[in-house]
Amino acid sequence: MALRLIQGGRASDGLPGLLIEHAAEVATLAGGLRTGSGMDDVGVISAPGGDVGQETAPAVACWEGRILAAGPQAELLRALDGSGYPLARFARLDAGGGTVTPGLIDPHTHLLFGGSREGELVLRQRGADYLEILQAGGGILSTVTATRAATEDELADHGRRWLGEMLSHGTTTVEAKSGYGLDLPTELRLLEVAHRLGKEGPVEVLPTWLGAHAVAPEFRARPDGTEAFVRYLVEEQLPGVVAQGRARFADVFCERGVFSPEQARRILKAAARLGLAPRLHADELAPSGGAELAAELGAMSADHLAAPSPAGIDALAAAAGAGRPVVAVVLPATTWFLMHDEVAPARTFIDRGIPVALATDFNPGTSPTASLPLVMTVACLSLKLTPSEALAAVTINAATALGIADDVGSIEPGRQADLAIWNVPTHRQIPYWPAADIVRTVVKRGRVVLERAAI
Ligand code: NIG
Ligand code: FE
Repeated sequence: MALRLIQGGRASDGLPGLLIEHAAEVATLAGGLRTGSGMDDVGVISAPGGDVGQETAPAVACWEGRILAAGPQAELLRALDGSGYPLARFARLDAGGGTVTPGLIDPHTHLLFGGSREGELVLRQRGADYLEILQAGGGILSTVTATRAATEDELADHGRRWLGEMLSHGTTTVEAKSGYGLDLPTELRLLEVAHRLGKEGPVEVLPTWLGAHAVAPEFRARPDGTEAFVRYLVEEQLPGVVAQGRARFADVFCERGVFSPEQARRILKAAARLGLAPRLHADELAPSGGAELAAELGAMSADHLAAPSPAGIDALAAAAGAGRPVVAVVLPATTWFLMHDEVAPARTFIDRGIPVALATDFNPGTSPTASLPLVMTVACLSLKLTPSEALAAVTINAATALGIADDVGSIEPGRQADLAIWNVPTHRQIPYWPAADIVRTVVKRGRVVLERAAI
């Protein structure tokens, strides 16, 4: 099998329509955010008897970059022809008896950074603790040094490489955090490159300002270092980031020993006043008040949550019950890679009605994987999500965590035609073949942008 990345996308043979046919299954995820037992229902349309040669097999029709409809092929074609979408104007794409899903959405990545940190893996094997490595000037701070030294072009090359990797695993939209600059010029450079790569495509990129990822090295020697840095973030860095206009969201690493809930509240409230919606690194390593704060602020998401307090879980459940859900973005590849026994209580979240999304957390320290299907596998094995729940978590729920569910994350009329076609006959096999390259074709805005063809 050879992978072909198609620059700019194949223009569907110059035709406005695209018809994907011969699928064994289409998982539509239609109907909005999934919670509770609804997370296990991914809106499957399947080929009766698994016969993909028949006209009863499901198909997906797209027109000028948007979804027109999904359903049994014969019905779909009749409906289209009768409503002014002539069949001759559709390019045909063979799903080869595979599965069609929405393009995957990765709602938490640290896409852009300089260097790598493979040495820390060995340190952790010998018992070193993640925050101890950081306090000793390693961890995030060593990546800050490498990132500050990287040029815009170097960061863009790195970003392109890893966005390509994400695309090859079915991802069509990603959130990308800054946070490895910590000073204004580097944070702006990271946000600019993230924006530029998204414009370049085919993967769409939503930049997040994470100035409060760690206390910057130049503030650390001061006795009031953390407080002084928080003041600097609110008074100087944030206005600069807002003036640049690239960031959509603001994030803070709210963790005992990093930034307190009180400091995170000040930063995120100031950011919200200036139009950046809040999200949080919450309770990654210890109960730190992050889940409670996310609920209080009505954050778009509370991420990690490997160690929330009972009160934090109650607060997220109450917010969901009140119709103001904060999406729990859980990151099982991170706890796996950190070799931590304590993992996010995702089953409790689902039982309590808290919507769950999954993300890679792609970064050089705690989760150097760009593959959402691998994350789905780990979620099934270590968090006990079902394969269907894991799919909901990387599509419609991930889209909700980013505030873009009206546009992407499901296969419904009018949604953007972002699709992944998998070389397996049911979505339940996506996490079942760990680390296999099972993406057949990726479509972004109605154009084929990647295909893995037999040679
Ligand atoms: O989400 N914990 C904070 N941030 C990242 C890790 C960053 C790093 O170690 O470089 C995370 O795990
Ligand atoms: Fe993270």
